[in-house]
Parts: sequence; C-alpha cells; structure tokens
Amino acid sequence: MPSFNSIQSRVDDMTNYYGKSLSTSNDLKSNVCTIEETTSHREADVYAKLHPEVLSRSYGCGILVPPALEGARVLDIGCGSGRDVFSLSQLVGQSGSVIGIDATQEPITFAKRMTDWHMQVFGYDRPNVEFLVGTMEDLATAGIEDNSVDVVVSNCAINLSTAKERVLKEILRVLRPGGELYFSDIFSDRRLDPSLRDDPVLVAECIGDVMYSGDFHSMMRDLGVREVRAVRSYRKIVRNEEFRRSIGRAQLESRLYRVFKLPLEDKCEDYGQAAVYLGTMDGHEQEFMLDDGHMFETGRAKLVCGNTAMMLADTRYAKHFRVFGDRSRHLGRFEDCADPNPASDDSRVPVGRSSCCG
Ligand SMILES: C[S@@+](CC[C@H](N)C(=O)[O-])C[C@H]1O[C@@H](n2cnc3c(N)ncnc32)[C@H](O)[C@@H]1O
Repeated sequence: MPSFNSIQSRVDDMTNYYGKSLSTSNDLKSNVCTIEETTSHREADVYAKLHPEVLSRSYGCGILVPPALEGARVLDIGCGSGRDVFSLSQLVGQSGSVIGIDATQEPITFAKRMTDWHMQVFGYDRPNVEFLVGTMEDLATAGIEDNSVDVVVSNCAINLSTAKERVLKEILRVLRPGGELYFSDIFSDRRLDPSLRDDPVLVAECIGDVMYSGDFHSMMRDLGVREVRAVRSYRKIVRNEEFRRSIGRAQLESRLYRVFKLPLEDKCEDYGQAAVYLGTMDGHEQEFMLDDGHMFETGRAKLVCGNTAMMLADTRYAKHFRVFGDRSRHLGRFEDCADPNPASDDSRVPVGRSSCCG
C-alpha cells in the first residue's frame, strides 16, 4: 500500500494540473481524457441541458448515463467541474441526490457557481447536488458513511490515484449492499513501465499510471468482488507523438465497467434461472443492456446464470425484471459460458463475450 506521503504528493501533482494548468479541454495535451464515442439520443438529451461552460471543462473519457436512477443517492468520484454530476442530477430527479467529490478546489468552486443555473433549468425547487473537496482515497474524511450510496460513478479519475486498491476499497465501503459502481476509465492491455508514473503530466493526461485490465480484475477479486462486467469499450489512439512513444506497443482503451456489491460466485453457475425485462426503465423501453454479453429484449425470457440473476434481482434493477427460479437447486456450470475471470487481459475475449454467460 503506498504511503500517505506518496498518495499526497500524487494528489498535489494532480490538483496542480487540474487546478492551474487546465482551463478547458482545449488545454489538454492529448485526446485521452476526452470522450470519443457517440452519444445515444437519451445521452444527447441529458447533455443538451448542461451549461456550455461545464461541457467545455470536462475531461472524462466515457459517457455516464446509467439507467434506473430515479430517487437514488449517487456519488461521483473525481467529479471535476460537474458535467456528470449535473447529468445525474437530471436522472435521479428531485427526490434523489448527487454528491461530487474532487481533490482540486478550482473545479469544485466553479461547479458550485453553476449549481443554481442547472437547478433552474431542471425545474427543481431545491438543489439535489452537493460538491465537496476531498480525496477518493479517503471518502470517510469527506463524511461519506458506510453503506450510504446507491451508485458510485467515476469518469477517468481512478487511474490518477497512486493507491487504486484503497480507492476501490473505499468505494465498496460506501456502497449499499446491492449498490453499483458504474465507471469509465482508461485501461491498458499490459503493465506499463513503472517509471512513467514519475511524469506528472503523463499521469495527469490519464496515461502514465493506467491499470492493466487484468490487474484490475485481480484487484477486485482481492477485495471480494468475484466478477466485474464490462459494458462497452473503445480504443484510444493517443494523439500526441511523444506520449504515444512513451507507452511503446501498449494499447489503451476507454472502458465502462459495472461492479456490484453482491456476494457473487467465481464462475457462472446454473440454477435453472431465467429473467424477463419489463421494459420499464426510462429511455430503455425496447431493451436493456446489462453488459456487453447481456442484452435483454423487453418481454423476452432469457436463461441466466446465478450471478446475472443476482445482479437483476438483488439491486435497483429488481423492479424492472421478473426473475424466475432461485438457487435451491444447482445444475452445474452455466452452459456455453465464457470464463468471467479470464487469466489474461479480458479484451482478448471475443466481442460480446467479455462477461460471463451470453
Ligand atoms: C481526468 S479529470 C476528470 C474529471 C471529471 N470526472 C470529468 O469527467 O470531467 C480527473 C479529475 O480527478 C481529480 N483527482 C485527481 N486525483 C484525485 C484524488 N486523489 N481524489 C479526488 N480527485 C482527484 C482531478 O482533480 C480531476 O478533476
């Protein structure tokens, strides 16, 4: 575990970069902390209600518009100037709440200043967002209690920490049982040269200390999460010659993951269960995509393994599904199931099968 001093020194480098060197995304030296995927109609509608200045100050690498959030308590780790917080504010509605936490004072001050404008646009009579200065390695000091959050999101921020395992442990601590970490970040297909971590600009540009995706899976297993699900991913071609050279032949990807706080199993096991999506999530009337291997068409029954059944029945998705069967009778391994815990980088599992059962 990195020492307090090394964590703090990294935080100082990052706050210096995000507070002093950058004013808008035009100041970035590469395209890595930018969104390069196309938005769905629903996502575009959410972004259309955001202040242009908020959009111009975002440095995320993915689109965070998770489904079924009405009334939820959401926490955004490394929220920056609040693009995702204000997006999520629309999704949780007046009865929900969103907390954004970031180590850098400047974007938090800016986001606070933009709050009234957004609340007015969303038609809320009181703010459902709160912005805090604090570090992702220590959410307790920021006052985030155990089992108090329904959904944690993060957009291209966890890679910046020098204590990623500690951050993920903190996230699991604050999530309620059945809660979900829904996050986008940059991953590499191999471990990068550790000396790259000493270059604060390369790190701040979401390159120098990104995780090898295999190590992320192992880290989650060490923390008791037996399976994580990739929702989507896209390749990042680093558009900065010097940065590209520094990572050699490594390939970077922006990935969106779902991690549930659930007692999942190591393997996909068959209990004869099936699930039917009711078509009741806003913006997902025809289908619901749990991950890149599980698309549920409305009204169409699908056989599911025990882990998938749990993700649908013991989470906020429960009211949107009918899950048939329980775990009283085990029928062996789930048939035709890819290994949810591949030994090597899971990006090599064929598309559509990076998670467990299909
Ligand atoms: C790449 S930016 C992404 C910002 C925001 N999520 C977005 O999409 O615009 C990373 C953010 O993480 C913050 N950050 C870096 N290290 C942090 C830490 N240890 N704790 C909390 N925030 C941190 C930075 O201040 C910066 O705002």
